[in-house]
Amino acid sequence: MAASVGTLKPHAVCIPFPAQGHINPMLKLAKLLHNNGFHITFVNTEYNHHRLLKSRGPDSLTGLPSFRFETIPDGLPPPSEDDADADATQDIPSLCESTTTTCLAPFRNLLAKLNDTASSEVPPVSCIVSDGVMSFTADAAEELAIPEVLFWTTSACGFYAYTQYEYVFQKEYAPLADASCFTNGYLETVIEGIPSMEGIRMRDMPSFVRTTNEDDFMVQFIFAEMKRAKRASAIVLNTFEELERDTIDALSSILPPIYPIGPLNLIENLVIEDEGLKELGSNLWKEDQECLKWLDTREPNSVVYVNFGSITVMTPDQLNEFAWGLANSKQPFLWVVLPRGFLEETKERGMLANWCPQEKVLSHSSVGGFLTHSGWNSTLESICSGVPMICWPFFAEQQTNCWYCCTKWGVGMEIDSDVKRNGVETLVTKLMIGEEGRQMRNKAVEWKNLARDSAEGSSYRNLKKLIDQVLLPKV
Ligand code: UDX
Repeated sequence: MAASVGTLKPHAVCIPFPAQGHINPMLKLAKLLHNNGFHITFVNTEYNHHRLLKSRGPDSLTGLPSFRFETIPDGLPPPSEDDADADATQDIPSLCESTTTTCLAPFRNLLAKLNDTASSEVPPVSCIVSDGVMSFTADAAEELAIPEVLFWTTSACGFYAYTQYEYVFQKEYAPLADASCFTNGYLETVIEGIPSMEGIRMRDMPSFVRTTNEDDFMVQFIFAEMKRAKRASAIVLNTFEELERDTIDALSSILPPIYPIGPLNLIENLVIEDEGLKELGSNLWKEDQECLKWLDTREPNSVVYVNFGSITVMTPDQLNEFAWGLANSKQPFLWVVLPRGFLEETKERGMLANWCPQEKVLSHSSVGGFLTHSGWNSTLESICSGVPMICWPFFAEQQTNCWYCCTKWGVGMEIDSDVKRNGVETLVTKLMIGEEGRQMRNKAVEWKNLARDSAEGSSYRNLKKLIDQVLLPKV
């Protein structure tokens, strides 16, 4: 049902953090708000706007009459001429620093421009939906006296672990005494006293806590963002109650109202019918569709899909060990990056892609396992497709997602971060043709069904409540 105030539509300004794993879910939420009668302004950084035009074509950001794209600068120095066309993910800590310190002014100017030129086509801004780590937007919302919703694109468990950073430092689990703590087993230490996270170890906490310096920029950044989260009108999470009830409850007791409205990919597929809206996409790299045709030629549940997301950087050694472990498992695979010599050895059973339409790949019947860096979008997309995972977390809350997949949800096996080819071979074989893998696949299918139920049920209702209780102007 479309919402409107008098004759004017409500107008939501949606602003993601400028990285792939944040833009994707924000675009889905924006589409769902549009579907509920909102005028949308979607704010990308200039850098990403340029990349989207390149990956998706010159008309891809024209938008719809009531779904417009705008840009602000990200505050980083422009890429050098050599890098101008590079398809690289920007450095995340640098982006956190530059957006926090430079984006408020251009964001304010953008809001002023939208309000100055407001008309029946572009109504005055009535609410802000901001990424959880772009919380400088709270100042702008307060100045305009409009509601601001923070969208944390992490899991509830990852977000909750961030809220416990202060406790971890208070209780002196961190900072680490010195660099030897990284290797001498200290990271196995169990952190006592975090409600609903009994048994969590230092190594399962979001990675920034592993520092020998409390003044570390990312630690201070998380402290600041946790304080800001308390000022939001509401907090939105791309998860569902059936999966993360305990942590959602724990979060609800310390923060503004929490609305779990995921999995957004399923709700999007269920409710968005408008072709123009469906067409709006957010992949910063050009999608390679060939891999879907290749998957069509494979047996059900036979292919290991390997993708470590948009940010992960492996050392050449890790890549080499990992790749040969995968080759030695003799399982068919679909992967994006390869070391030299590997291709020749595995050409009969391997397919390489540059950047794939991941949701379609994961829901293809040939895919039977996912080797992932445990980014939250990837984890949730895998759960929604009933695909079990081998988890190799690298940074941020990927460690926490991995711990939940392996110890609570029964859908993951963890790879040793000191990766060796024998270990990879054993795990891939276990996942694809072993008994443990079979049980995990059954469990993943159970979660898939619950995810679908929640997309039609609890999460859908939460989305409606968010709109009615928080986002629609009170008249
Ligand atoms: C990061 C963090 O890892 C994540 O935990 C955090 O919550 C958001 O930021 P990223 O590392 O990019 O994100 O991984 P992930 O969260 O998995 O998001 C990647 C997105 O890109 C997914 O939606 C995935 O479907 C998409 N993707 C990835 C593709 O469409 N094609 C690809 O080839 C790879």
